[in-house]
Amino acid sequence: MTFTLEIHSATTIAHPNIALIKYWGNRDDTLNLPANGSISFNLAALEARTNVTFNLDFPADQLVINQEPAGGLALARVSAMLDLVRAMAKLNVHALVESTLNFPIGTGIASSAAGFAALALAASRAAGLDLNDKKLSCLARRGSGSACRSIPGGFVEWLPGISDETSYAVSFAAPDHWDLVDVIVVLQNQPKKTGSREGHTIAFTSPLQEARVADAPRRLQACRDAIRWKDFGALAEIIELDSNMMHAVMMTSSPPLQYWEAGSIALMQAVPGWRSEGLQVAYTLDAGPNVHLICARKDAEMVREKVLEVSTPVDIIVSGIGGPARIVRSV
Ligand code: PMV
Repeated sequence: MTFTLEIHSATTIAHPNIALIKYWGNRDDTLNLPANGSISFNLAALEARTNVTFNLDFPADQLVINQEPAGGLALARVSAMLDLVRAMAKLNVHALVESTLNFPIGTGIASSAAGFAALALAASRAAGLDLNDKKLSCLARRGSGSACRSIPGGFVEWLPGISDETSYAVSFAAPDHWDLVDVIVVLQNQPKKTGSREGHTIAFTSPLQEARVADAPRRLQACRDAIRWKDFGALAEIIELDSNMMHAVMMTSSPPLQYWEAGSIALMQAVPGWRSEGLQVAYTLDAGPNVHLICARKDAEMVREKVLEVSTPVDIIVSGIGGPARIVRSV
């Protein structure tokens, strides 16, 4: 075939997101249609920067992550997304995907969310497509469910939907609506043993998952309201409950998944006490031991000091709320 695209290379940036109401378990594992809706915000300080180049001379898709060639499952997942884009654009050309992340991969800081959001935007653009945010969010979801939440900016809700076209994320408040930060306590920066992709497939083996999903609309409403009215007490109550419920499902699935480490537990035990001393801080943990301390920006420095009193992190990353995935270059 003739390769007549004007644009065949694009570079994009997308942020990871931290879920306040979690996604865990699918109604459809192939399409990543989630069992329940979820709410998150993007992390401004962290980003995946991805370049996609389609070139007739490439014999196969290639993936480079942080300057290292990647194969295996990572390349297969990237090629699967490129196949979706090629089908939409009616293209039959291989691509080189180069991605750089400024934070640790595979440790529960949503590297796949940032990576697949950046890839969906870069690949579709490089293929000459101009997808709207809804279609981009649906496409990103196919790579990694939570990636759909890294397409829009600010506070985001993933509407679970019932089909490929109806499951996508929308922004419901701008990044500057509420000056919150995520103090990410990195206790472990090695990749976790069981990734979330595998975890989703066993969520319903837990006898607690049905109850967790059934109660999700109530938690989503409480979280939306807390954000709308900037009610930190209400936010803390609902996000800690939601995180605990997801980890209860993980721990009681078959096989059981146990992501917490001693430092994670020490922090979860300490945080309610810090709140009763007047700090606006609440914890949430994704599929990893690292603890995300959601707090008012004015309290972030004090929270950081308190963290060091009860745990020995390998790193502490502080991030405000980020904007949408964006194109930085396309030729
Ligand atoms: O999108 P995935 O497959 O990486 O799943 C994300 C799962 C959690 O991070 C644990 C929760 C969430 O909603 O982000």
